[in-house]
Amino acid sequence: MTITENSNDKLNFSRIIFVSGVAALGGFLFGYDLGVISGAIVLLTEKFQLSTAGEGWAAASAVIGCIAGAVLAGKIGSKYGRKKSLILCAVLFLVSAIGSAIPENLWVFAIYRLIGGIGLGIASTIAPPYIAESAPAQYRGRLVSLYQLAIVLGIVIVHFANLMISYQGDHQWNLDYGWRWMFGSEAIPAILFLVLLFFLPESPRWLVQNGKESKALELLKSYFGSSRAHIVMEEIKETLHENKGRLSDFLRPALRRVMIIAVLVAVFQQFSGINMIMNFATVIFQKTGSGLHMALGQTLTIGVVNFLFTLIAIWLVDKVGRKVMLWVGSLGLAVTLTTSGYIFYNELFDGPWALISILMYVAFFASTVGPVVWVYVAEIFPNQSRAQGMAIVTLFLWSSNYLNIQIYPMLEKAIGTHNCFWLYAVINVFYMLFVLKYVNETKGKTLEQIEMNANL
Ligand code: BGC
Repeated sequence: MTITENSNDKLNFSRIIFVSGVAALGGFLFGYDLGVISGAIVLLTEKFQLSTAGEGWAAASAVIGCIAGAVLAGKIGSKYGRKKSLILCAVLFLVSAIGSAIPENLWVFAIYRLIGGIGLGIASTIAPPYIAESAPAQYRGRLVSLYQLAIVLGIVIVHFANLMISYQGDHQWNLDYGWRWMFGSEAIPAILFLVLLFFLPESPRWLVQNGKESKALELLKSYFGSSRAHIVMEEIKETLHENKGRLSDFLRPALRRVMIIAVLVAVFQQFSGINMIMNFATVIFQKTGSGLHMALGQTLTIGVVNFLFTLIAIWLVDKVGRKVMLWVGSLGLAVTLTTSGYIFYNELFDGPWALISILMYVAFFASTVGPVVWVYVAEIFPNQSRAQGMAIVTLFLWSSNYLNIQIYPMLEKAIGTHNCFWLYAVINVFYMLFVLKYVNETKGKTLEQIEMNANL
């Protein structure tokens, strides 16, 4: 069934943007939470006299929580709904922010970080599909991309916050209190998220799925106007009728294929080299001869470029489409990584070439693969299986994230920075080929049309 425009129908844009914006705040906390550790880890290591293993645990405990969160999210999201699940996340963020600011030893600290990580894992599983499920088809890409915009905004803001806090006292003050404020400051966006979530409606798809059809119809009307709401409603019911929403559904070949493609699109994103840049940029810049302050400044430019170029993705995603952006993006990543590898191999460190090349890499990532992956994985599962499908995808995504952070220092030691760039360049060539062969365009289609086209 296709959707026909009715001239009497008006999209309620401000409401749709408000709903998507609040859900995207989950992404802001994602960026903030992952970014806060980069500024605080040096202080924590000195304060608690951490060994390398302890340092790794302090840094990675949140990511391990994310993996656990993704495991829980499918069940929680389907059973209690998207809204209540996000409220739970906000509470976990808040508990984690306060808890990780007060401890006197590493273990207590790591447990509170783990709690926040669980919130992150659940939020990153629930928020993008929640936005996709509430969005009109022709703007869905842009609205889900708000999630990525919020991630990168969170990263930039936390870097500023860390810097501002570190200027509030001398080194001893930072050791005793500075890091506590860095973690504690996350309570502010967490409270904001919690309060705003109470103003959000449930996802219309979830409401239909749980027998609350009249509520869903009212909601759809408030988004899309009356006649379009009826059409969307019919389409949702049709797809729910055809699918039962069990985990075993993923054994069916058509759905299994969708899941494998979604998982690989996400895992490739994690292995595209972005984690090397986002987590180790300061170290990489120091290798080019930059002092600590210079390297920190260069890292901050990365955050700013990441933010600005995500805006380009938002502009493009519903015009150009997901598939083109993914393959052009991975090609661009391969080229800029090859150039960066060349610069590092030949140690061309006089002049700004290393910085320029890495910034171009980030610009490519931010304007393509970064946001588009979240859009794509949030929209390609059928209504009944979206919560579980997304949970499986984020489980793989977070595990790959963890693996990347864990192996990069060893990899760099074994083969050198230039070979790491080249290795990731090769992975991106495979990413491009994979996208060209397996990814179907979803631009402009309703979630139900995507589902019907895939014969799920
Ligand atoms: C990725 C993260 C990455 C972030 C950086 C997200 O889309 O999933 O791994 O750190 O973008 O902008």
